[in-house]
Amino acid sequence: MSKITYIDEVEIKNKRVLLRADFDVSLNPDQTIANDVRIQSNLPTIKYLLKNKNRLICVAKLNRPKERDPKHSLSVVVKRLQEYLPNYQITLVDDFLNPNKTVFENQKENQILVLENIRFYPEEKKNDLEFAKKLASLADVFVSDGFAVAHRSEASVVGVTKYLPSYGGLLLKKEVEMISKVIKNPQKPLVAIIGGAKVSTKIGLIKKLTEIADYLLIGGGLANTFICAQGNNIGTSFCEYEAVKLAKELLDSSIKNKLKIILPVDAVVAKNKDDLQSQTVKVKQIPQGSAIFDIGPETQALFGSLIAKAKTIIWNGPVGYFENPAFRRGTDFIYYSIANNQDAVSIVGGGDTLAALLKKEHLEKITHLSTGGGAMLELIEKGTLPGIEALKR
Ligand code: 3PG
Repeated sequence: MSKITYIDEVEIKNKRVLLRADFDVSLNPDQTIANDVRIQSNLPTIKYLLKNKNRLICVAKLNRPKERDPKHSLSVVVKRLQEYLPNYQITLVDDFLNPNKTVFENQKENQILVLENIRFYPEEKKNDLEFAKKLASLADVFVSDGFAVAHRSEASVVGVTKYLPSYGGLLLKKEVEMISKVIKNPQKPLVAIIGGAKVSTKIGLIKKLTEIADYLLIGGGLANTFICAQGNNIGTSFCEYEAVKLAKELLDSSIKNKLKIILPVDAVVAKNKDDLQSQTVKVKQIPQGSAIFDIGPETQALFGSLIAKAKTIIWNGPVGYFENPAFRRGTDFIYYSIANNQDAVSIVGGGDTLAALLKKEHLEKITHLSTGGGAMLELIEKGTLPGIEALKR
């Protein structure tokens, strides 16, 4: 059976390595880095390859530019990498298709080349094979360590593997092994907590979780659609009315599958997301003109009691509008409940979820904080990803 070979299972030495890294950091409005957890997560692979005297050519994307746009330049990443790797010279290659001729030939052992944002090239998203071939021609070996883009069939993730011996990096290994273990062989009870906004984008995940979880706790905007499907009036709350029927079907089928879908019983409501005059009400009594922005204390207690007895926990998506401190208590509570259950294997991921957590203490009490949002969800749902399949030999 074909499988991925990871870089610690093979000798890669004195090679030119094209490294698909994940440098997709979050930026502040003034373009400084707000959070570089993704750079940090790639450092073990970078250091491992450097130790073996390989010359690295890093390829990554930042944000979602459709064409060349200096606002999305990887120059901020290069500066940060330089701080982490002071003994190396990190050089940004502005356009690898038209480089200053000697930059690749003259790459020194202590020099790391970082190609400018690969999404500046429209061929990247199209997985254009000619483009992938040009990328591949820069190196002897390809290493994939961008777990968060492994669900994308793009040239620097999938296409390039056709032209080079290809291996998985240490972050990819950790992510794939941790998440796969939890899906294939979870210790029971498995409690999944799903928040965020839309049912429609998480429907595949929810269906999969209904197969493997014992309890599915639903919060956030997502829960509103279910609360509505139960026949409650939800005031002006966000709701995907076109998904109410689907939510009803899921509720019905969960009864058959003996899965317990647990919905909020109370909520913190306000006139709008910036309103500080909130009140807590039962979900059956949402006042007209008010909207749900967080789970209430009774729901916290209910969710907390289930999280406390879980042996496996999967969490994706905040359960409230955490950007406003008035509505982040529910999300904080979920986090501390998970961190407090040290008998469980816990996997937490998703861009918004991590943004809600990152300044917190006790992060080490979470078994695995995934760098992937969509990639983590798709891996749970489908058991594999295009960027994983492409590495298998
Ligand atoms: C993410 O942030 O989830 C990944 O970097 C994927 O980004 P994309 O949606 O732009 O492909």
